[in-house]
Amino acid sequence: MSEDKRRFTLDRSFWTVTIALGLISAVLMALVKFMPLDRVLPEAADSAQSIDYLFKFMTFFSIPIMVYVYGFALYFIFRYRRRHDQPMTDVGSGIHDHKGLEFWWTMVPAVLMLTLGILSYLEIPKYYQAKAGAVTLEAIGHKWFYEFRYPGLKNSVYNELHLPVGVPVTIDVTAAEANERDAVIHSFWVPEFRVKQDMVPGLVVPLTFTPIRQGTYPLVCTEFCGVGHSAMRAAVVIQSRSDFDAWYKKTAAASGHPTVALSAGNAAGGQQIFAQKCTACHNAAPFDQRKVGPGLGNLFHDPAHPKLVDGKPANAKDVAEIISQGFRGDMGMMPNMQANGLSAKDVANLIAYLQTLHK
Ligand code: CUA
Repeated sequence: MSEDKRRFTLDRSFWTVTIALGLISAVLMALVKFMPLDRVLPEAADSAQSIDYLFKFMTFFSIPIMVYVYGFALYFIFRYRRRHDQPMTDVGSGIHDHKGLEFWWTMVPAVLMLTLGILSYLEIPKYYQAKAGAVTLEAIGHKWFYEFRYPGLKNSVYNELHLPVGVPVTIDVTAAEANERDAVIHSFWVPEFRVKQDMVPGLVVPLTFTPIRQGTYPLVCTEFCGVGHSAMRAAVVIQSRSDFDAWYKKTAAASGHPTVALSAGNAAGGQQIFAQKCTACHNAAPFDQRKVGPGLGNLFHDPAHPKLVDGKPANAKDVAEIISQGFRGDMGMMPNMQANGLSAKDVANLIAYLQTLHK
């Protein structure tokens, strides 16, 4: 037996540390096993239950690996540190190779990773394919709002995704591509569903899941998509079947947009709304000073562009029509008043304000 082997035989403190690390692992593993994730972040769809199960599996087995790796590293650092009476040139022992240890610390993580891979393969793909018999609808990411199209509904629904509880749904997720300027990547993320999918122009990804808990949950864009990114949020409303049917019926019956009484407009109110809702895309400046859309400062009084609205001079009624219905054309795309959260009164106020500019 060599000199080295005797000096570095593991002593009793090593086994004490090993048992202590085992106890710490057991406590942490029990915490993971019994942690009510559902109470921290509700599991509002079956996809959430699957992801949480995989998450717990991975965390549960990661804990002993982490505790022993860090625990032994710390222990060895202190236990076998250089003493003051040892020369600075001391380099410690030349131990290497332990076939048994190396076999096990390779095999155990390899088997765990393989198991996690197989479990993921069994759980995850079913949420990424269309399902026969599921309600199918479309979700489209725009700058900077969400559009939802339901079968049988003539008008799109904006920024509010209504779903019936307990009914499987397939959502075809994509992003608008009216022109190159507008074609950016958004994201469809509902934390309570544990579903996160990029919305890519030209690519349609089917997401399938079953909502299992009623309530209102946030839908968030997590892909940086321009100046309005931080405001790109919507609500997912999971309702009972009868509430959903009532909502659907009401939405189907709604005819277009509320009539806007323009005479009631108030310029000061319009200025406020403009600052809140319009300045992400528009300046109150000459037409050519674009942000996302053109400058609107001279909209009603523009000698350089006398025919601004459909080749006609701008008048209050036509401009109100564009703000209410939205715009799609060579200049880009503007969402309608519902998507922008504008009331009929807001539209009237905006018109009154725009008319006061650069008179
Ligand atoms: Cu859309 Cu960020």
